[in-house]
Amino acid sequence: MPKSPSGVLLQGLTLERSSRVPMYKQLETGLRKLILSGTLRARQKLPSTRELAGEIGISRITVKAVYEQLVAEGYVQAKSGSGTFVADGVKLETSSQVGSLPDGVTQKIHLTDRALSILSSNASVRQGETEPFRPGVPALDLFPVKLWNKYIREATNTSHGDFSYGSVNGNADLRRSIASYLSDARGLNVETEQIVITSGAQQAFTLIAFALLITGDTVWYENPGHIAGRDIMQVMGANVAPVPIDAEGIDLEFAIKNRPSPKLIFTTPSHQQPLGTTMSLARRLSLLSYAQENDAWIIEDDYDSEFRYRGRPLPALSALDTNRRVLYVGTFSKSMFAAIRLGYIVVPPEMVDAIGKTKILLGQNSSPLVEQALSHFMDDGRFVEHIRRMRRVYRERRDLLFDCLSSMCTESLTPQSSDAGMHMLAWLNGGVNDFTAHRALLDVGIESLPLSVYSVYPIERSALVLGFSNVREERLPGLVGRMSNTLRSLSDIRVLHGPK
Ligand SMILES: Cc1ncc(COP(=O)(O)O)c(C=O)c1O
Repeated sequence: MPKSPSGVLLQGLTLERSSRVPMYKQLETGLRKLILSGTLRARQKLPSTRELAGEIGISRITVKAVYEQLVAEGYVQAKSGSGTFVADGVKLETSSQVGSLPDGVTQKIHLTDRALSILSSNASVRQGETEPFRPGVPALDLFPVKLWNKYIREATNTSHGDFSYGSVNGNADLRRSIASYLSDARGLNVETEQIVITSGAQQAFTLIAFALLITGDTVWYENPGHIAGRDIMQVMGANVAPVPIDAEGIDLEFAIKNRPSPKLIFTTPSHQQPLGTTMSLARRLSLLSYAQENDAWIIEDDYDSEFRYRGRPLPALSALDTNRRVLYVGTFSKSMFAAIRLGYIVVPPEMVDAIGKTKILLGQNSSPLVEQALSHFMDDGRFVEHIRRMRRVYRERRDLLFDCLSSMCTESLTPQSSDAGMHMLAWLNGGVNDFTAHRALLDVGIESLPLSVYSVYPIERSALVLGFSNVREERLPGLVGRMSNTLRSLSDIRVLHGPK
């Protein structure tokens, strides 16, 4: 049954315990709506975290995290010692903003559970203009644009006017080029026929969820973990069960004890997103044998494995899989650029056509011409050349960022270096909330992401996720100096007003 807190102020806030949308998200979305609709007015006081937590039966820490999130977004203000209040100047949503209806006509639009679940997703954080330190953005200024244009031009010219939809499972040449790359770089021996080209990893997750899952199927999902992958599983009706990460990767023992048995397990073994852990060999083998014994699929999201800075790249989890339990997902968003919208899935041969046809039903998305251009780019050795160059550049940027953070932000941050990938974590010292730090840094042109955004639970220790691949070396010290000043001023405010 939906539950409405009885306090006068929060009438209209409906929370449903049985919904697939977590309670904290329902509370956050509900409060935002009450403020935007004017039901909660400027300067009105919200119930204390204790009152509200008691009334709706969730933990006080969760309510506190929701309030902190709304403070960070500017909906409410926390006044030390007196409580939390609706902020002044929040622009109300009025019907004229969305086009008014003719006089006398009223219309109520009811969004479905699915639409509400989509609305509560944070996945769009990666859209829009890119500022320095946004995680996962390649060094776009170093991409060989002229050379790439040559391949695009050639693909267009040699298509002989066949500007059609292309093949169901993707361009045959590109599937061959990827099979050969995977064998050289990831130790994967796959048949070309096992590969389906997608418009990026996100489409791969969508296709897998659409074709393999039915409502209520359990998905074990790394927590903290990749946001958009988690949200699409949830939106498709899966029971997404968060599983913590330990020093060896996804905590299998915890999941077996505490979660229903899964149809699908989502993991990032090469470089856990966002914590950076590399899954141990022992954990890989346990995970594979668990999946085989319990008839579960594993998604291996190998999103940034090209960038490993110590030793040789580790073979993929999929390379150890003798039972075809792993659905291996790759993307060109990191190794090339996100706008290319190309990725792929390696699936068992029996599954290829089902996945390929799902893609056609859902609207295909990737362009056969770009697929052809990429295939030639790879076959001519340009792709591997570009990756090698970027690996050198990213290693330098990672080292420089780590040194700058260690020397200039000692009070506010403790950086954690990473052997792989395009981002590093920096733990926030002095109890500063990561959403607050993220907002303050955004105001000065620095785009970190708060670690909390990757987690469905309030996290124990706040951290910022900092992408280093998209920041030129000469700009790095100046930007870290700006970061240091901004974070220091946040700690000063905390010292002045006391912790919230
Ligand atoms: C963990 C992870 N997987 C996959 C992707 C790539 O998604 P796509 O290929 O759809 O751009 C990202 C992008 O940010 C990511 O962080």
